Amino acid sequence: MNDLSFPSQPGYSPAAQKALSRKPALFIDGEWVASTGDQLIDVYDPSTGKVICQIADATSDDVDRAVTAARRAFDDGRWTGLPPIAREVMIHKLGALLEQHMEEFAELEAIDNGKPKAKAMELDIPASIGQLHYYAGWATKIGGETIDPMVVPSGSFHAYTRREPVGVAAQIIPWNYPLIMATLKIAPALAAGCTVVLKPAEQTPLTALRLADLVNEAGFPPGVLNIITGYGHHSGAQLTTHPGVDKIAFTGSTEVGKIINKAATDTMKNVTLELGGKSPVVVFPDADVKAVAAGIAGSIFYNAGQTCIAGSRLYAHKTIFDDLMDALAEQAQNWRPGPSLMPESAIGPVVSNEQYERVLGYIDAGKKAGASVVTGGDTPSACGNGYFINPTVFADVSADMKVVREEIFGPVLVAQRFENTEEAIAAANDTPFGLGASVWTKDLSTMHHVSARIKAGTVWGNCHSVIDPTMPFGGYKESGIGREQGNYGVKAYTELKSVIIQL
Ligand code: NAI
Ligand code: MG
Repeated sequence: MNDLSFPSQPGYSPAAQKALSRKPALFIDGEWVASTGDQLIDVYDPSTGKVICQIADATSDDVDRAVTAARRAFDDGRWTGLPPIAREVMIHKLGALLEQHMEEFAELEAIDNGKPKAKAMELDIPASIGQLHYYAGWATKIGGETIDPMVVPSGSFHAYTRREPVGVAAQIIPWNYPLIMATLKIAPALAAGCTVVLKPAEQTPLTALRLADLVNEAGFPPGVLNIITGYGHHSGAQLTTHPGVDKIAFTGSTEVGKIINKAATDTMKNVTLELGGKSPVVVFPDADVKAVAAGIAGSIFYNAGQTCIAGSRLYAHKTIFDDLMDALAEQAQNWRPGPSLMPESAIGPVVSNEQYERVLGYIDAGKKAGASVVTGGDTPSACGNGYFINPTVFADVSADMKVVREEIFGPVLVAQRFENTEEAIAAANDTPFGLGASVWTKDLSTMHHVSARIKAGTVWGNCHSVIDPTMPFGGYKESGIGREQGNYGVKAYTELKSVIIQL
């Protein structure tokens, strides 16, 4: 029973109910088709812990059908052979259709993932629309260059490069930002002229499935974009070894990234991996403690900490450490969890019971290892069967603790003191990950010096988690291979060909 102080999840809109009542189906070759198997996967609303619908667990025959459709659509040129402007216009159209259905997509994301609908309206859906429009433009701007060879008489050869689409892309995405992940994957692939089989995470299939309706409405030729649902170790794994797939793009855990990279080796698929992180936040003594605390809280508590670049390890100079802990405890009050459809909720529940147990396991491990709880460390009282966890800050941690070394993927920050810059840099780099990092100081030379020394794909200065489609994004070390976004993101869906002609 819910206590009066913890609200219940409000009812779903008719549009959301309609999406939930969809029969389990796969989107293959421009049509909704039933799976050839009968295995279903339950989908939960994490705010209530209740099953809201079921999806198909695609069989190997289903995966084969989807890849074959994408293969055919690629090989017969129905997409790649179009004038690039036609591809650009169609991807823009998908973006415009998504904009028309913003409210519905935000609600579905909230019901499925647990994130507040208000946050999905602010970030997830606009960012997804932005990805589509940004990459639509690249369809008409990808090209090669002419080069003058150096060992033959000048003018005796015509040599140039071509950027050609790599082929069929299998895209496997996680549950933390379901629609952003889907559009971040499909938009550059479609712009480059690839065809796609997308598999959303089994926990959060709803917005990807609804997007398939819009793909048809936008007029994409059948087979260009196929969307199948299923468990990772099952349908996902089959995509990674299917000989008809030329490229794999994956976002998710480092553990699965390693499996996928090995699985893709036999057929030498082109692979892009965006994996886990344990991003350091380094605060120098001149930083404005109150402003910094607000920024740090946002970086770790937003989306209930389920963000690959979440600022999860804090290193603060010893002179400001205690003040910063007080300010963070105060900030945590602004990030109280609530049901995803309540307008007041700052964060929702974590995505699943599995994730809930996992994060609470880490909180327990932190306490047992002797870390002190600055704030949180528990769950809200009387919150029913939802997977709610209070924003948590641990101080007095040491470098060898599990909570410091491993990605928690929940609203949990671990904080340590440092005395000098070298020590802070060494601590920031003391991790197998290298996705993001932030540096907080007013001193420009410290800012640039430390930014250059931290081994991470993105370093933010006096901010954290600022993402823009134009800026390359990816990981050093075990945080991944390759880059997404910007021109790098679209090039990742091309092969580079040299053409050398004797005149
Ligand atoms: P996961 O890496 O298992 O799942 C991500 C995607 O990969 C899903 O679509 C899943 O179906 C698929 N998948 C799983 N196993 C596969 C396989 N063998 N072959 C092909 N596809 C496969 O992540 P999971 O289990 O949901 O979460 C576990 C932890 O992973 C989280 O606690 C978090 O630490 C980390 N994670 C990191 C993410 C990031 O963005 N860096 C996103 C999601 C999870
Ligand atoms: Mg997994």
